[in-house]
Amino acid sequence: MKDSMIHPVRIQDNTFRDGHQSIHATRMKTEDMIPIAEEMDDCGFWAMEVWGGATFDAMHRFLEEDPWRRPGILKKYIRKTPMSMLLRGQNLVGYRHYADDVVRAFVDRACEIGIDIFRCFDALNDFRNLETCVERIKANGKHVEGTVCYSLTEGHLGGEIYNLDFYVKKAGELEQMGADTLCIKDMAGLLSPYDAFNLFTELKKAVRVPLHLHTHYTSGMGSMTCLKAVEAGVDIIDTCLSPYALRTSMPACEPIVAALQGSERDSGINLNKLLEMSEHLEKIAPKYQHLLADQRLSIIDNGVLAHQIPGGMISNLTSQLKEMKALDRLEEIYKEVVRTRKDMGYPPLVTPSSQIIGSQAVLNVLFGRYVRISNQLKDLVLGLYGKTPAPIDPGLTARILKNYKRGQTPITARPADLLPPEMEKARETIGHLARNEEDLLGWILFPQTMEKYLLAKYENDAPARAAAAGR
Ligand code: CO
Repeated sequence: MKDSMIHPVRIQDNTFRDGHQSIHATRMKTEDMIPIAEEMDDCGFWAMEVWGGATFDAMHRFLEEDPWRRPGILKKYIRKTPMSMLLRGQNLVGYRHYADDVVRAFVDRACEIGIDIFRCFDALNDFRNLETCVERIKANGKHVEGTVCYSLTEGHLGGEIYNLDFYVKKAGELEQMGADTLCIKDMAGLLSPYDAFNLFTELKKAVRVPLHLHTHYTSGMGSMTCLKAVEAGVDIIDTCLSPYALRTSMPACEPIVAALQGSERDSGINLNKLLEMSEHLEKIAPKYQHLLADQRLSIIDNGVLAHQIPGGMISNLTSQLKEMKALDRLEEIYKEVVRTRKDMGYPPLVTPSSQIIGSQAVLNVLFGRYVRISNQLKDLVLGLYGKTPAPIDPGLTARILKNYKRGQTPITARPADLLPPEMEKARETIGHLARNEEDLLGWILFPQTMEKYLLAKYENDAPARAAAAGR
């Protein structure tokens, strides 16, 4: 093989973030990562994703761990491999849009505690929602991974919105914004192998920065999709070590490394080393096994192949319907999700748009279409989450926003331009309970649960308790 033909595929390991987020509800403790962190560091991964997404929420809410400490602890063991995080743009690691001063402070702290690569996405692919965090990441000299959420208009790539041109255009926008790498984030496992081939072939022609694929195994296509993306020249792919792979997680690392051995895309990663680490994970996994969703024999979610509604969203819909004693209407809801999403300008189904569309579809089926309307849906129509991929019908807009207290005319500005700074006011409100900016930021993101966490953390501290009691 000529040297010029060798183009090793680089691998990002996601075991310590998306892996246990997908398989064990984000509950892996830092102490269980430490025993293999140093060996993982020796593997030659392009990066290891260790923070962001739901980890911040789960750590303080369920694990009694200070979320800010994990990257620093891991950095003692992971000294060579860059550490990455998933950042929801203006939503950071929370569930609403935060003011720019919060975004700047959060990114600065994340850089300080050791995050090197920031995978930034917006649920509507409205990149104005990435402007502030990208500016800060760059100012800190760190790596911006610009991300496009993968979604479909119909069964496959193509149709009126999510066609090749859409992704090429979005990728170009991110490159213009200064993205150092470009990621296609296929959170629901919708990207099929041949669509991936076409997509990455076109993206390779259109952008200069390295291309990264993040796909989930959910539909069962993930490993095939990675292989075709590799054939089309994708530079980096995301995998997890096998115990934390497959199901709704990522494709497994080991078979991909094995499959590419000896080819011009050989990853160069030592397979035996991976196998040793998987063995370690098998030993710690039993204590988390009660968190595994194993009600079904099948490890893939046929629903994604049938109606493209990802598993996480189906479980939300099911519990909502159970509460309303209407579980027998699930099939109707699936159809209504498709209609509601179309009405709302085809947002990708990812946090938070998946919840907004899902809940509204339930209301539409049970009470008639748009008879009862959630405030979140009104906010979406009002433009407070950003611009939807396709416009929403003006008649429907008027109907949904009729008498809405936050406004009746959709905004066209960047949503965060309407948000006044939050840090100072929060600092006054929380008082002595926040000892530092990290406490304060955590509290802005998760007021209730972080307050509980901080009270426990400063249990023996009278002024902290007085500050909380005084509110
Ligand atoms: Co993911």
